[in-house]
Amino acid sequence: MNDPIVYLNGEFIPLSQAKIPILDRGFLFGDGVYEVIPAYGGKLFRLEQHLTRLEQSLRGIRLDPPLAPAEWRQVLNELLKGECDQAVYLQITRGAYPNRDHAFPSVIQPTVFAMATPLAAGSPQPAKAITCEDIRWQWCHLKTINLLANVLLRQQAIERGCQEAVLVRDGLVTEGAASNIFAVIDGVLTTPPKGPKLLPGITRDLILELAAAHGLPHQEREIQASELTRAEEVWYTSSTRELVPIVELDGSPVGNGRPGKVFWRMYELFQNYKRAYRQSL
Ligand code: PDD
Repeated sequence: MNDPIVYLNGEFIPLSQAKIPILDRGFLFGDGVYEVIPAYGGKLFRLEQHLTRLEQSLRGIRLDPPLAPAEWRQVLNELLKGECDQAVYLQITRGAYPNRDHAFPSVIQPTVFAMATPLAAGSPQPAKAITCEDIRWQWCHLKTINLLANVLLRQQAIERGCQEAVLVRDGLVTEGAASNIFAVIDGVLTTPPKGPKLLPGITRDLILELAAAHGLPHQEREIQASELTRAEEVWYTSSTRELVPIVELDGSPVGNGRPGKVFWRMYELFQNYKRAYRQSL
């Protein structure tokens, strides 16, 4: 049976033995944060950026970081198995206490959990998506484990034969249910600016960095939902799925209904960047 070693509160133990108390505040209140960090060739990718975001999420929910960056690095590296592509999932909750009380306990003993899972490789699969009203709370820049709205929105997409939901708040595109959104509009690669309405995606930032380094026209600006109907291309991005072209949105083709040329250019740049990273020391 596959029973990988995971990290729980200072120990490396088989997943089947990893248990937490039923009164953990993550279970009761969704009171916690998480990160998903890819590793290529056995090396954690953009770790510093992920740890910085983790710290911002922790600060956002008023929880002190339980480990220092060097300690995270050590724990996460220990979980990686060989050189296959993997994703490390890391979750911190405000811990378990004898009473169910919304107010913070006076002494905090957080629950810290991490595990590595294989990351599926392969060529990008063109995706279908629907647009949905963004029904989430107003602190979407924090990567919290309160994912109920994201779960319900993504499920709506799945049940309509799609892979992702593109979220719209007050007529503006925010992000995907589990990803960031890019559109090519009048030849310019465009993504909404960072702010409380969306997660500052690590993949998003790398794509903007690559666009800048290779002279691809790009901009961060608000995108009206109505602009998506005339966009040449729409993509979604995340650490586990990299960049995925949306070829059908709300039942209509995006552009000519196939992944566009800006997508293929960025896909190549992204793969080259990963390859160079794998081969670096
Ligand atoms: N989710 N926005 C949301 C709401 C997300 O859940 C994610 C990723 C992103 C992309 O961020 P990044 O490029 O840093 O992965 C944006 C992860 C993968 C998940 O929940 O599994």
